[in-house]
Amino acid sequence: MRSFHDKRAFVTGGASGIGLGIVKALAKRGAFIVIADLRPDHIDRALVEIREAGFASSVAALTLDVTDRAGFAAVAERMDIELGGIDILVNNAGVGIEGPLLEAGYADWDYGFGVNLGGVVNSLQSFLPRMIAHGRGGHVVNVSSLAAAVRMPANFAIYAAGKAAVLNLSENMREELAGKGIGISVLCPPFVRSNIHQAALNRPAHLREGSEFQQREGALLESLPGDDLMDAETVGEIVSEGILANRLYIVTHGEFRDKMRGRNEALMDAVPEAAFQY
Ligand SMILES: NC(=O)c1ccc[n+]([C@@H]2O[C@H](COP(=O)([O-])OP(=O)(O)OC[C@H]3O[C@@H](n4cnc5c(N)ncnc54)[C@H](O)[C@@H]3O)[C@@H](O)[C@H]2O)c1
Repeated sequence: MRSFHDKRAFVTGGASGIGLGIVKALAKRGAFIVIADLRPDHIDRALVEIREAGFASSVAALTLDVTDRAGFAAVAERMDIELGGIDILVNNAGVGIEGPLLEAGYADWDYGFGVNLGGVVNSLQSFLPRMIAHGRGGHVVNVSSLAAAVRMPANFAIYAAGKAAVLNLSENMREELAGKGIGISVLCPPFVRSNIHQAALNRPAHLREGSEFQQREGALLESLPGDDLMDAETVGEIVSEGILANRLYIVTHGEFRDKMRGRNEALMDAVPEAAFQY
């Protein structure tokens, strides 16, 4: 993809944080973007911000829960009918599920994997055949996390495992998509200013029952993102450049190089020198 001019983008979780940063960066560069988000309050606030930034005519929004397969399929069909299909798919919606693995209930696994991995799967199933069918090519961005590429401290296993699956999936989709003229990037940020601490508010009622993380999620709600974190607009700029360069890995911060290297070297250290004799 050489430019965003006249391109149509679909951004899940695009009404807050990193997703909204990507929406603004794409709008600035001439794309038309549809935000799909679970939270009407986020959508209302995002549309005000977008209007104030002068991009009202470049952005539309709809409510969608990325775990709702039928809803996703219907929205993808609507994008074909109303926009002639999309060119850029940003699978960004995610939740900051956090808590001790040994205390997790099935509701916590289902919530974390359901949104962070299942949401990406549902999006790909709904949109990829349509992107291929329109024949213009395009680009997919999957939002993973640096948590996927380092060994995380306690309490992040479900989050990190879901994000690792998104990273791995992205790497392994590249070849098949390239054959169809579709590029792919996977975004791996560490800390970005956003509302990721609001996992409690995004958890559906049926996954509150059976959760062992609710107390922790309640406490997280009270925390505020630090002012020193990277802002989502900067991430949006970096992602835009990554799309244009068809960069597979988009990593926003340099300060975790040693942690990444340590994890990768430990894996390499486990590899025997000699090949197996078949
Ligand atoms: N903020 C960080 O430090 C950070 C770091 C690494 C990765 N990430 C990832 O970035 C992505 C965006 O997160 P963020 O930090 O901007 O958080 P955020 O909470 O500000 O934004 C996420 C948006 O996704 C929406 N959402 C949540 N569940 C949804 C669902 N089921 N269906 C549709 N929309 C849903 C929320 O309403 C929200 O508007 C996530 O995938 C997150 O895991 C964030």
